[in-house]
This record gives sequence, structure tokens and C-alpha cells, in this order.
Amino acid sequence: MKIELKLKPQSERRQDVFKPEKPLPFGQLRTDHMFVVDYADGVWKEARIVPYANFSIAPGATALHYSQEIFEGAKAFMHPDGEIYSFRIDKNAKRMNISAETVCMPKIDEDLQIEGIQRLIDVDRKWFPIQEGASLYIRPFMFGTEDMLGVKPSKTFTYAVILSPSGPYYPKGITEPVKLLISDRFHRAAPGGTGSSKTGGNYAASLRAGEYAYSKGASQVLYLDCTNTYIEECGAMNHYHVMKDGTVVIPEFTESILRAITSESVIELEKELGRKVIQQRIKIDDFIKGIENGDITEAGGFGTAAVVSPVGTYIFEDGRELKVGDGRIGSVSKSIYEYYTGIQTGRVKAPAGWLRKVERY
Ligand code: PLP
Ligand code: COI
Repeated sequence: MKIELKLKPQSERRQDVFKPEKPLPFGQLRTDHMFVVDYADGVWKEARIVPYANFSIAPGATALHYSQEIFEGAKAFMHPDGEIYSFRIDKNAKRMNISAETVCMPKIDEDLQIEGIQRLIDVDRKWFPIQEGASLYIRPFMFGTEDMLGVKPSKTFTYAVILSPSGPYYPKGITEPVKLLISDRFHRAAPGGTGSSKTGGNYAASLRAGEYAYSKGASQVLYLDCTNTYIEECGAMNHYHVMKDGTVVIPEFTESILRAITSESVIELEKELGRKVIQQRIKIDDFIKGIENGDITEAGGFGTAAVVSPVGTYIFEDGRELKVGDGRIGSVSKSIYEYYTGIQTGRVKAPAGWLRKVERY
């Protein structure tokens, strides 16, 4: 499908290269344009890049009432050659369609998703933030637009992509490990539900638990499965821990855990990282014992926004605290972070197909 460009006048677009003086927040800034495609009568149509602006949406749209919405999160990086490269967006495009199936939305051609993202970045390339640790965060999303109050799938949809020049998700980056609340009160997802999809409803349902975690001094919840037996994941990242022999352990992907592209990438990089990376069901009791007796030396989270976020301390509902190692970032987490961000930023050779140069169209 041809992508039509209806751009802002040159004089209203960013003219200079973006060199923010202060550390950028995550997800707050926007660029000048967005990519939009509409779906009606069984087909996707009118792919276009237009100025970033409000949507006009019917008050009865299914997205507003029943959260018929899905999204993705990816990043693009500037390399030493001065070119911008998106990272593994083919994986995001594929997962978008998996999420679409879960909430009865139509699939959208993966090549069209990729082309829309690449061309949008090209149009707004002046917004790429030249700042240590910053990147261009890519947010594709799709929502139901039919004006209909029956609880049924919409017949019309909009797919769009917006960009956000962003700093790290956790403002202190990896230098200050985060605290996680281990909660047996809240659950993120259940078997037979939508936990393995990136659908807005999962995140709405996690807000209350997230606010509760903040009130206890933690930045996210480490969720357990519905029986409070196994570790699942966090609100915005998968979980991992490191055994004293250096093995990295990620909870097995069940139907209530998002298959994080970051975790999958770390698994694929096992050889290059020179360590074993395994997935298994992890009992929370064994995990706690492992930290207490020193068998587990590091822990943290993997995610596009979070990258590699080490955990320094776990806190419990009763106020108890459990420190991991000496509470600081460990050498395994640090080496994974460095290798992974090295690939993303072009300092380390990337496996074939992981990076896609943004052409000057
Ligand atoms: N788990 C959840 C619930 C998330 O929201 C995210 C973020 O996308 C992740 C894990 C990490 O996934 P990915 O590495 O694909 O960004
Ligand atoms: C991401 O890591 O890209 C996410 O989507 C997580 C969060 C910002 C919701």
C-alpha cells in the first residue's frame, strides 16, 4: 500500500538536530508527525503520515468503553555513522498481530507496519535526541473505533505510530537498582486471559497495584501467578535472576506472561554473552531462599523501555526487605546491559537482521 505524506509546512517542523541539555524524561515528548492507517469494510486503507494531532473519535467507540486497544514499544538508535537504525521492529510487528488476535482485531500487514515506522522516523529524523542513553521510542497502537455499545468486536479500527524522544525509563538508568514489591494481593493476568498480549486493559488493571507499590517505596510490582506460587513478571518488564555460577534464569513464558523481545534477544545472545540463559518455572519460595543463602546473586528486569534494570531490594507487604547481593548492580547484569546496548547503538556487531537503517526516502 502506498503511504501518502501530508506533512506540516517546513517552517513548522523541527529544523535543527535535537540536542537536549537536560536529561530527557521517558515518553513525554512527541515529534511532529504520526503514521495512521484506517480499517473499514474488511480492509486497511489510507496509509498516511500526517502532523501529530488529536484524533476525532466517536464517544461510543469500543476503545473508550471496552479497552479494545493494543500497542507495541520499540526503539531506534543513532550509530557512530550518524544514521538512525530501528531495533528488531519486525518482532514488534509480528507481536502486534498476535495481540490483535487476542482482542478480536484485524491483523495488519507486517511490511506495512515496518515501512510506516521507518518512513515516520525519516520524516522526523531531526527529533532524534543526541544525548547519552537517550533514544527514539516508537509506539505503534491500534484501537476499535465503531460507535457501538454492545460488547462485541468493533468493525472499524485505526492503527497509528507515534514517536517519543526519550531518556531511560528509570531516570537513574542502571546506576541505581530499583526496588520491587513482591505482592500476593494483586495479580496482573490469569490463565486463559490476555496476559501474553500488549493490550491496554492489562495496563489499566495494573495501575492500582503500581500506585500501591510506589506508596511502599517500590517502582513496580513483581507479580506472582494466581496461586501465589510462581514468579510471573513485572508491570512493564520480564523478570530475571542470576545464579552464582553466572546462569541467567528467566521465568518460562506462560500464557499470562508477555514474551518480551528483550528476553528473547538475551536468550539468542547466550553464546556471545558467554553464559547459560535458561527459562523455567520459578517458585517464589525457592527464589527468596536463593537470595537469602547466596545461590542467587543478582536479579532484575528486561524490557524495551527498561532495557536491563537491576533490582537492589525486594520489599514485602509486611514491610520486610530482602537485599540482592550488596544491593548494587552485579557484574552479569552490567555485562548484559553493555553488550545489549552496544548492539543497539552500533558499538558491537549485531546479529543479522536485528537493525534496520532508516533510509532517506
Ligand atoms: N512485560 C511487560 C508486561 C511489558 O509491558 C513489557 C514491555 O514491553 C515487557 C515485559 C518487555 O517486553 P519487550 O522486551 O518486548 O519490550
Ligand atoms: C516497553 O517497554 O516498550 C513498554 O511498552 C513498557 C511500558 C512503557 C508500558
